[in-house]
Amino acid sequence: MVHCAVTLAESWQDRQRIDVQREMSLLTQRIVVRSLFGNDLADRDSRLGDAMAVVGREFGVELGVGLLTPSWVRTPARRRVLAAVATVDSEIDRLIRARQEAEREAEDGEDLLSRLLAARDEEGGRLTVRQVRDEAVTLWAAGHETTSTALTWCWYLLSASPNTRARLTAELDRVLAGRAPSYDDYDRLSWTRQIVKETLRLYPPAWILPPRTARDKVTLGGTPVPAGTTIWCSPWSTQRDPRWFPNPDVFRPERWDVERPENVPEHAWFPFGGGPRTCLGARFALVEMTLVLATLAQRFHLDVHPETVTPKAGLQLQPAAPLHATLHDRTAQTTR
Ligand code: HEM
Repeated sequence: MVHCAVTLAESWQDRQRIDVQREMSLLTQRIVVRSLFGNDLADRDSRLGDAMAVVGREFGVELGVGLLTPSWVRTPARRRVLAAVATVDSEIDRLIRARQEAEREAEDGEDLLSRLLAARDEEGGRLTVRQVRDEAVTLWAAGHETTSTALTWCWYLLSASPNTRARLTAELDRVLAGRAPSYDDYDRLSWTRQIVKETLRLYPPAWILPPRTARDKVTLGGTPVPAGTTIWCSPWSTQRDPRWFPNPDVFRPERWDVERPENVPEHAWFPFGGGPRTCLGARFALVEMTLVLATLAQRFHLDVHPETVTPKAGLQLQPAAPLHATLHDRTAQTTR
């Protein structure tokens, strides 16, 4: 994670203007591919990233008017999704083939893909290539766009909060003293972690969870719920509820100060869902966001424009307009 973030920081220039979501998306994609598949997409990553962006965008349409259109109708949006899915499938197939090739050459595969290929059930059966591909696509898709969206919101919030940003750079200078962070720093970077947590409260990328169905009749918060009822839970609405978060619309990482806990009930903060189907990559994402933020903020300030943007609820909660940022290299400012 840090290696990918350092490489990105080295490619950035003082005063350069960037598309924040795109930079974060390419970064988290590289991270997930390297950590999970032990491979590098080299020049193909934008092809995969663009295909994924199409799926994300059109899925929002599908959640709207798409719900009223029978599933057999091939709308232009659905055709775009199918083409994008075919691209994703073929790119992931390519990664699997590369991995199988490496296995044959007896390279040691410690990554998740190698483990899926090597996995055997009780009878010695293995996963089919299609099953491996489906697992890989799930992890790849679940594992990068959510995190990049969260990081995009994070830069947006930081840009509008000079005091929070100043405290962040002070922590990074104190804990890291100019070196790149490592996994061991995760626990030491408490203010950085609080910023990440507060960002996920205000702008949970998964603003609504996959629905649950009540198996039995139950009463929830005084409301009787018959068996078979579909229940939608929204981190967006709960996490902005003043009953659990005073001044809920204000970005205040202080809420998460471990020394002065603010008594947030369990599951009032649930950007990763909850229960047996909770996000499999929650820890991965929290570590990733913290280390990426630490690596990049150590070197750069991002001034994000526009300064106010409304969120748009599609497959994820994303800024309705693209966010751009002007980079300010902190080291260039010191030497200037
Ligand atoms: C900020 C980043 C992320 C957010 C906000 C997020 C959010 C979520 C949410 C809300 C769910 C549904 C949970 C539920 O229904 O209760 C979920 C499921 C899942 N997530 Fe994440 N996720 C993130 C990052 C990741 C990463 C990095 C990975 C993998 C490396 C990942 C893998 C998965 C998987 C496999 C599931 C399905 C779990 C299951 O159904 O058993 N996620 N995620």
